[in-house]
Amino acid sequence: MKGIVLERFGGPEVLEVKDWPEPACPPDGYVIGLKAIGVNFADTVERRGLYRRNQALPYPLGKEASGVVMERGPLAHEFQPGDAVIVVKFDNGCYAQRVSARPDQVLRPPQGLSFHEMAAFGTSYGTAWFAMHELARVRPGESALIQAAAGGVGTAAVSLAASFGCAPVVGTAGGPQKCAFVESLGADACIDYSTRDFKEIVRDLTGGRGIDYCLESVGGQVYEDSLAVLAPLGRLVIIGFSSIRDNYAERIARLHPLTLFQRSISVAGLNADNIQFQANRAVWERLVAHAEEHRIRPRVGAVYPLERAGAAHTAIESRQTMGKVILEP
Ligand SMILES: NC(=O)c1ccc[n+]([C@@H]2O[C@H](COP(=O)([O-])OP(=O)(O)OC[C@H]3O[C@@H](n4cnc5c(N)ncnc54)[C@H](OP(=O)(O)O)[C@@H]3O)[C@@H](O)[C@H]2O)c1
Repeated sequence: MKGIVLERFGGPEVLEVKDWPEPACPPDGYVIGLKAIGVNFADTVERRGLYRRNQALPYPLGKEASGVVMERGPLAHEFQPGDAVIVVKFDNGCYAQRVSARPDQVLRPPQGLSFHEMAAFGTSYGTAWFAMHELARVRPGESALIQAAAGGVGTAAVSLAASFGCAPVVGTAGGPQKCAFVESLGADACIDYSTRDFKEIVRDLTGGRGIDYCLESVGGQVYEDSLAVLAPLGRLVIIGFSSIRDNYAERIARLHPLTLFQRSISVAGLNADNIQFQANRAVWERLVAHAEEHRIRPRVGAVYPLERAGAAHTAIESRQTMGKVILEP
């Protein structure tokens, strides 16, 4: 079987397709024949060896994909061979033709999506939904600010906030083309934060009140400015630090509890790796029902063959992508 096995850390050139053993079916799980693979920003961090402390080489990369159940173990009951499924596997292995998965790593996709769209759904929509509903408890009519809104999670967050009735939904993105794309997803406005200070514009758009809910993934000054525009009772959920390449512990600003108290704001963090969408199946089902009801389709911005995974990583790291990047096995 073909797959991308990380044998050393480094630049996109370390992503080489190799022969890898066929996956064995777990007694309570599945073997999935993959049709499309979702590329995450986290894969680029992992490729550089900075995702977690104990990354022991070699191992196959890839945290999510879509495909068809080929085999199921004698104790697996939820899916049948032939079913189309989403795989979210934070212990990796999805940059491949086939993957084994435990029952808690296989998810029901919304009906009507293509395999490319299914591979774009799991991590991005799951993260955006859990942040907005399980942590920030957003209500219809509240304002939402989505940072890096043209990206994989960003596009999901804009679609989910707009379809849930948030108002206004404000995105930020780097460049006019990305901003036009974000507005086409249902955002009331998108600010090019590479050329403009978004704080004043956000205050104007919310009548001076500030933002009720912010999804923050960029870090650095964008994080500081996001905090600054929160309204009283506003909630900010941190999901990443895309602008910070290393020395995370030193470069991520500390937040004093007094700040939270004085301004009546909340800051939360979400790590899909440890919450696991599958362990919260009822929440996942609410997301799938919402996506089906509102006919939400993930935006696929680019598709590469698996052999060109390095080019896909380069595109993401150089901020050229809009929507989700997909690999074809
Ligand atoms: N916590 C979780 O469970 C979880 C789950 C999924 C993703 N995430 C995080 O959410 C963020 C988005 O993930 P994604 O996979 O959807 O990626 P993405 O949004 O497709 O790509 C990252 C975006 O970040 C922006 N960015 C700002 N500064 C950057 C820099 N110095 N280098 C590169 N990009 C920069 C770029 O958009 P502009 O050019 O528009 O600024 C870029 O398109 C990442 O930080 C990721 O780690 C977290």
